Amino acid sequence: MTMTARQDPAAAIDPGRVTLEPYGVVVGPAIHLAEERRRLAACTYEGFAIRQLGATIGAEVHGLDLTAPLSDAVVAELRRCLLDFKVIFFRDQPLTPEQHVAFARQFGDLEIHPFIPSNTGQPELVRFEKEAQVGGFENGWHSDVSWREAPSAAAVLHAIEIPLVGGDTAFSDMHAAYDGLSDEMKERIDGLVAVHDYTKAFGHAVPEAMKAQMREQFPPALHPVVRTHGETGRKLIYVNRYFTDTIVGMERAEAEALIGELAAHAECMEYQVRFTWTKDAVAFWDNRATQHLAVSDYWPERRIMERASIIGERPI
Ligand code: SIN
Repeated sequence: MTMTARQDPAAAIDPGRVTLEPYGVVVGPAIHLAEERRRLAACTYEGFAIRQLGATIGAEVHGLDLTAPLSDAVVAELRRCLLDFKVIFFRDQPLTPEQHVAFARQFGDLEIHPFIPSNTGQPELVRFEKEAQVGGFENGWHSDVSWREAPSAAAVLHAIEIPLVGGDTAFSDMHAAYDGLSDEMKERIDGLVAVHDYTKAFGHAVPEAMKAQMREQFPPALHPVVRTHGETGRKLIYVNRYFTDTIVGMERAEAEALIGELAAHAECMEYQVRFTWTKDAVAFWDNRATQHLAVSDYWPERRIMERASIIGERPI
């Protein structure tokens, strides 16, 4: 006689997550996402249409031409859309470097990156030009320039040349990550301050002769482990394994274990959206609310992207 289960065995488990030992695999529904997912599903804008991509992060925006100046009303709505979805995407935007800079400038003053080469005509555009001789090393989760005293608020990335397959960019929602922490962990990290240091990721790229001057110009930056978003007032996890070095006043081993635990939690698939590029697509992300990584699976093909970054405020 064959027995058929009448009920999913998971029905016996409380909603919410369980940890499978001994490897600490966390499984089960991320129930805390439901409220934000539903809120985003109800978002509408007058000047353009959107399609929600991830549960709490990511939307594709349709009906705008970014090569031309936008009205103040549309800029204001895009700002709201970015705060809602944390990263927004556009297709088929053949921006010249000048148009790229002009689009980004509508949202604030732009940074000049001290290490990464720029577009030859536009110093505000960081150029990621990857090919057989230059690999993609941006495949570690990070928020851009968190080692600066005032890291960028947002960034606009334009796909100039893309590989036939691969080279996606993944984004993770740091509000969802914070909200998904246990109460004990929230209490443990409340008030902690982390040290962010560019040398962790870029130290090898700085010529020996310039190291002392760069160190003086960009000393390690101290930022709260739990950051409060300056515009939405929401809390978020603000450590990443790419640039965060240690935690003030904590033994290094303990700090590294804690940063590792928070970062692993922040990288959870349920908090993510993954974008597959097409030529002239644009990603516009809130660099406070998200972390991202560029999947490095396309070598030796070419992948050329240019990024404009909007100057941010000191994290609190
Ligand atoms: C970056 O880390 O800002 C670059 C992202 C990408 O190339 O997709």
